[in-house]
Amino acid sequence: MEKRSELYRGKAKTVYQTDDPNRLVLEFRNDTSAFDGEKVEQLDDKGMVNNRFNHFIMTRLEEAGIPTQLDKLLSDNESLVKKLEMIPVECVVRNIAAGSLVRRLGVEEGKELNPPTFEFFLKNDALHDPMVNEYHIQAFGWASKEQIEQMKTLTFKVNSVLKSLFEQAGLLLVDYKLEFGVVDGQLVLGDEFTPDGCRLWDAKTREKLDKDRFRQGLGGVVEAYREVAQRLGVELS
Ligand code: C5P
Repeated sequence: MEKRSELYRGKAKTVYQTDDPNRLVLEFRNDTSAFDGEKVEQLDDKGMVNNRFNHFIMTRLEEAGIPTQLDKLLSDNESLVKKLEMIPVECVVRNIAAGSLVRRLGVEEGKELNPPTFEFFLKNDALHDPMVNEYHIQAFGWASKEQIEQMKTLTFKVNSVLKSLFEQAGLLLVDYKLEFGVVDGQLVLGDEFTPDGCRLWDAKTREKLDKDRFRQGLGGVVEAYREVAQRLGVELS
């Protein structure tokens, strides 16, 4: 496999073509951004930690029968992935109230949500990723009814697998965002699962160990990511 030209540069990852038309290289950079790219910083080792963390989580999800985009780890900062046609919506499940839910509904941060909630957001930076529902997704052709159902089923399956994985490591999975794509007609979990795209709290102290440390200027961002990785048994270099 040979890495070729840059295909797309996102806020924290770069996607490259390869000599295989069905494979891409995902490069996890140290760039860390929040508030639609308004706050950006380089954090040493974040790319390596996230790349290895993502590989660990995607492998656990594959083992649980969830199809993922991941093929293999290539280096500290790069993974080989299947080329997907991405669906332009984000799927968010919340087990505990935090973040935009707290701001939007005026509810108390930390309230346990029973049942966990599910939300779709449109991926559109210029519009600040507005919340959309299943009717919008179908009416504008972003996904079919069947794909919508599959995204919900898989996103909740990820919740049951990861909630218990994190629980065993003394962590609460507060919420997370997933993205899906299609390859050979199959819906597949794409993008990443790292502390950049989920909220993880220490189960005892409720200390924040995710990107909220960066958003809220709490410091110790990569240290927190390393702590979570170490508790899960993720091998870091
Ligand atoms: O901001 P909000 O509370 O809606 O985020 C819910 C979850 O989705 C958080 O874990 C956040 O990190 C993640 N998220 C993300 N990318 C976005 C929006 C939210 O990873 N564009």
